[in-house]
Amino acid sequence: MPSLNHERAPLYEALLEYRERKNRSFHVPGHKNGRVYEEQGQNGQKIRSFAHEQEVLRQLMAIDVTEITGTDDLHQPTGVIRDAQELAADCFGAEETYFLVNGSTVGNLALILTCCTEPGDVLIVQRNVHKSILHGLMLAGAHAVFVTPQLDAPSGLPTAPTVDAITEALERHPAAKGVLLCSPNYYGMGVDLQAIAEAVHAHGKQLLIDEAHGAHYGLHPDLPASALQCGADGVVQSTHKMLSSLTMSAMLHVQGDRLNGGLLKQRLAMLQSSSPSYPLMASLDVCRRWLHTRGADAFTRGLEAVSWFRSSMEQLPCYSLLPQPAQGVEGEGAYSSLDPFKLTVRDRTGRYSGYELQEKLEELGCVPEMSDVVHVVFVFTLGSTMEDAKALFHALEQIHSCYGEVGNSHISIEKKDHTNFLHHTSTLISDPVPFRLQPLAADAWETVSLEQAIHREVAEMVIPYPPGIPLLYPGEWITEEMMLFLEQLSQQGAKCQGVHDTTLKTLRVVKK
Ligand SMILES: Cc1ncc(COP(=O)(O)O)c(C=O)c1O
Repeated sequence: MPSLNHERAPLYEALLEYRERKNRSFHVPGHKNGRVYEEQGQNGQKIRSFAHEQEVLRQLMAIDVTEITGTDDLHQPTGVIRDAQELAADCFGAEETYFLVNGSTVGNLALILTCCTEPGDVLIVQRNVHKSILHGLMLAGAHAVFVTPQLDAPSGLPTAPTVDAITEALERHPAAKGVLLCSPNYYGMGVDLQAIAEAVHAHGKQLLIDEAHGAHYGLHPDLPASALQCGADGVVQSTHKMLSSLTMSAMLHVQGDRLNGGLLKQRLAMLQSSSPSYPLMASLDVCRRWLHTRGADAFTRGLEAVSWFRSSMEQLPCYSLLPQPAQGVEGEGAYSSLDPFKLTVRDRTGRYSGYELQEKLEELGCVPEMSDVVHVVFVFTLGSTMEDAKALFHALEQIHSCYGEVGNSHISIEKKDHTNFLHHTSTLISDPVPFRLQPLAADAWETVSLEQAIHREVAEMVIPYPPGIPLLYPGEWITEEMMLFLEQLSQQGAKCQGVHDTTLKTLRVVKK
């Protein structure tokens, strides 16, 4: 391949040229480069009643084109989109890269529909996955063999399954089409994907990775290796999350010949709009140019800010941070890498839940990414600055100084560790669970007591929270062991999502 010029952003440049040409538009989109908000008065002069829309949207609308001469076609790229995707593939180390205009969501759907082509095809999937993966399984009519993830005991957070569990699942299900995992998780905790890729490939299967939270991986020596570098066959990344493209823009990278490339293209054409947003795609092009031309330096400012924050937090002992995994302790710990840009903070005194801490921080003008019962997660990126880090530190310091004496904790940080249960029973690796699109008819299920639910097919999802790993998916069968465990959770007052009866005294099951 001739050497690629990463100073160019061919798609973005085509849009700027389009804007400069000021041609008359006799094509969609209907806003006519945003002119719709430019109201004309009686004598033709512009009036400003829609000044706000004009100011906010006009810049964007000026490059919001469609497939006209010179702007190429996402579904059959031969021009600037092809060039932009080739440059992206080169930057991220893929053989082929596809731009996505519906986030990692559509990438996950496309990967599953490429891997599982017949209803009943088996896919090995980690139990705790994003809903887009469940939707992909539904669309494909696939059967999922769920593998329980590891649980980080100190934080109570689930990561991904061990290589041994994946290998065992592959051995039990030799007809499986592939393995789909998510790494890193929302908290930035990742597992050793290289070992998993080797195991999956040794069984002649493809490894698909939902790397929605790791689009920046592999691009700086301080960042963990990317899933592609570890050998994954198909990888989905939300470029908009941890890099710098517009929300909803994402990329799907592939390498090797295990994935059916022709079918993948057909799936993407089926799932993505025939009018994909050019501002979204151009933002991917610009993001790639920024990364490639800056190299590792693109991350310097953000990394400096986040490492200053991390070390400054030692001055505030009432908080703890999710630690980097211990190096060189092979086989120990549920994660082997931690995204340095993700900071998971918890109130060690137990006075504030993660939710309360988030609320207090927001009152002080610092908005976290998310919180759970215990933790608050802060996302730094290549766009973060030292001022951001200092503002966050001072906000946490201010909350800390209002603590008074440590000691009147009202948060009991219980870790009802149901993965222990899942690890110690036959449910570590589930039987194939059928997914289908047809909703269960209202008269197809009934509500029964837990005792009556034994040996019945469950009709709803059961997700004790925390840690938020689904214990049962619709279509799974309830063993006596499972029933006893559910009973125990119910007696402990565990919070449960997905179920109609959150006290877990009854369950919906499929009628006999
Ligand atoms: C693990 C994971 N996968 C996929 C997605 C979907 O990504 P997107 O919002 O880019 O569609 C998310 C969204 O938060 C996610 O957390």
